[in-house]
Amino acid sequence: MSFLSATLARVKPSPTIAVSTKARELKAAGKDVIGLGAGEPDFDTPQNIKDAAKAAIDRGETKYTAVDGLPELKKAICAKFKRDNGLDYEPSQVSVGAGGKQILYNALMATLNPGDEVIIPAPYWVSYPDMVLLAGGEPVFVEGRMEDGFRITPEALEAAITPKTKWFIFNSPSNPTGAGYTRAQLKALTDVLMMHPHVHIMSDDMYEKLTYGDFEFCTPAEVEPGLYDRTLTCNGVSKAYAMTGWRIGYAAGPAPLIKAMGKIQSQSTSNPSSIAQWAALEALNGPQDFIAENNAVFQRRRDMVVEMLNQAEGIDCPVPEGAFYVYPSIAGCIGKTTPAGVKIENDEVFATALLEEKGVAVVFGAAFGLSPNFRVSYATSDEALKEACTRIQDFCASLS
Ligand SMILES: Cc1ncc(COP(=O)(O)O)c(C=O)c1O
Repeated sequence: MSFLSATLARVKPSPTIAVSTKARELKAAGKDVIGLGAGEPDFDTPQNIKDAAKAAIDRGETKYTAVDGLPELKKAICAKFKRDNGLDYEPSQVSVGAGGKQILYNALMATLNPGDEVIIPAPYWVSYPDMVLLAGGEPVFVEGRMEDGFRITPEALEAAITPKTKWFIFNSPSNPTGAGYTRAQLKALTDVLMMHPHVHIMSDDMYEKLTYGDFEFCTPAEVEPGLYDRTLTCNGVSKAYAMTGWRIGYAAGPAPLIKAMGKIQSQSTSNPSSIAQWAALEALNGPQDFIAENNAVFQRRRDMVVEMLNQAEGIDCPVPEGAFYVYPSIAGCIGKTTPAGVKIENDEVFATALLEEKGVAVVFGAAFGLSPNFRVSYATSDEALKEACTRIQDFCASLS
């Protein structure tokens, strides 16, 4: 009898870990490596948020809280949904967890039975398929092709829906592509969902605040109020407020689902850190102006990275609407050979050779379910980005 569970056997080890392990090994061996793999802002958490956490400690807010969130924080989350998304929620419709990740996981654990299908647009955030598998469900992928801006079409969504479909996971702006859906593009998808009342919608709005130019964020329950009763709108403070280490995410949706998610949390982790919850309250209620300041920096970096990557031979890099990632294609490099004699057969070989031969760590597209591409995170300094893009240009020029 195996000691490890059969459920675990369904889950793959994270392919992104191989890249970061390799980068760490090369760094330890003294090689100059630039990492473009980070999924977090390089900015520090704003001072007012840190001060709120310190004040919470000094006030003795160091005990268990309500399992799925402080009432004060739930109130602030309701106000945020009203203010930013025009959505009305009561505190009983809100759940707070240890990061957006726990929220999504709780929702899947609370709802999936063996054989239930979850539609995931590809390329996808690496955790979605494995969370679905851990919860006993079956991921069903719908490809968002590069020529369609990495967005799925309503026809492809329609074709993927079966009587077994329980959830459709929606993520805009997206990790790994940065692609965002306009209101009209999202409405075309919600029109399909309106015709299938058994499908629930999990909207992962983690990158809501990180959008550039005149792109306007929108979320399914706002675009189609008819979906309100079957949508879980998920968000968190990790990305917008540079609070990845604090571990606070939240969601709002139908009260029975929220209650079920709380039940999972009550028997696993209980409440997220009391101190982090008070910090998140300040993040949501406090000044928001630093978000625009950070976004100006991100936009400048995005533009530089897109321009420099498009100058690299064999690379085609679309301009994304948000998040802090770009997802260029390396179709023009496939079949070529590196100076070290490595034949670029796919994006994994490309990323490994780029790391070994030029010291630049990126994550290959197959990890996110769409090839031949790679993901660059531009949440790092301008100098490091410029040097890394120059090395990518040199690498591509050296291919024959
Ligand atoms: C699309 C997406 N959703 C959710 C998360 C999880 O965020 P958190 O750090 O709050 O768990 C991430 C983090 O990388 C993400 O990229």
